[in-house]
Amino acid sequence: MADKAVLAYSGGLDTSVAVKWIQEQYGMDVVTFTVDIGNVPNMEAIRQKALNAGAVAAEVADARDEFMTDFVFPSLQADAIYEGEYSLATAIGRPLIAKLLVQVARKHGAVAVAHGCTGKGNDQVRLDVGIGTLAPELKIIGPAREWGMTREELIQYANKYAIPVPVTKKSPYSIDENLWGRSIECGVLEDPWNEPPADVYLWTKNPGDAPATPHYVVIGFEKGIPVSLDGVAMEPIALVQALHAVAGEHGVGRVDHVENRLVGIKSREIYEAPAATVLVKAHAALQNLVMAKDQLRFKSFVATQYADLIYNGQWFSGLRRNLAAYVENTQDYVTGEVRMKLFKGTCTVVGRKSPYSLYDLGLATYDKGDTFDQADSPGFIRLWGLPSRLQARVQDVTIGED
Ligand code: ARG
Repeated sequence: MADKAVLAYSGGLDTSVAVKWIQEQYGMDVVTFTVDIGNVPNMEAIRQKALNAGAVAAEVADARDEFMTDFVFPSLQADAIYEGEYSLATAIGRPLIAKLLVQVARKHGAVAVAHGCTGKGNDQVRLDVGIGTLAPELKIIGPAREWGMTREELIQYANKYAIPVPVTKKSPYSIDENLWGRSIECGVLEDPWNEPPADVYLWTKNPGDAPATPHYVVIGFEKGIPVSLDGVAMEPIALVQALHAVAGEHGVGRVDHVENRLVGIKSREIYEAPAATVLVKAHAALQNLVMAKDQLRFKSFVATQYADLIYNGQWFSGLRRNLAAYVENTQDYVTGEVRMKLFKGTCTVVGRKSPYSLYDLGLATYDKGDTFDQADSPGFIRLWGLPSRLQARVQDVTIGED
């Protein structure tokens, strides 16, 4: 009996060709595995395609709930945004795919796993590192980075084995999408001077064409997890989908970013992440209300680290695990509501409240009811400024001033 490889299968031309290619090059039987994290409209059609392409079995899984609960929301709680722009939709899906691939490989007694990533991107790193950490005994095959075929040769190969080549014109872009967002690259986008054409966007309206009246939405959080919209409790998938619709309608969630890949390349990336854009901002606003200054300062440092760990494929690492425990601990009081205003591509925090709010009106107000004793200030300031005065006595602490 031939050895088995489990191939992460999307139903596209590349992974369909990969089924045959692995059989031919490695002499292995191929089991395909397709996982839905919000990107698979017709699972049965994909299963059939895999079997038609020559797979000995075609496994599928709906991992949308697990994706939201164990990957997306923890990264939201961590405020994980890569380089200040990218809410990490593609990146955060990869460790889950790696984990499930390993499970399927073990179920089938496979000796290898395979994926369709190219050799230039981050996704190969995330999958390889994830798989290698969870199952070091499995061989990893990356057909698209091994076969060296051009697109033309790929089509010839497909024709030779009667693998159907999509008749519709291939999109000029490389697109990856899931419940948390869409990532778009290639084509005219490769020139960072080119404005993204309208056909890049699918989930968001052009802000110029968005409604002329703003839309307000109230997001309820419990321990840093979004649980309701406009006071109505919602499950994670439904909540995110509803937010995509309403924020997308108002042109919110477009990102155009020149990004630093782990493999050293700068690449121009377009993202559409309406729900993530709103939730990340809302979450930060609520956190700001309930956490002390030093907690917030420290957490923002952790956020950068956490985003890098996700981006760089280190989800299954000791540090990510340590930081996850810290992040979870910080969310105990991140409960309350945030009111967001969506308007022509912008999303603005316009209100926030929480039973654990540290905002004290009596201390903050300039009106009557002031409880802040202003007589305390001069003494405090004298001590606060003491180090500066001490230093100025003996050293020059001015810059370019006489
Ligand atoms: N640059 C993003 C990342 O590394 C998105 C990659 C998108 N992948 C794709 N096949 N289009 O996470």
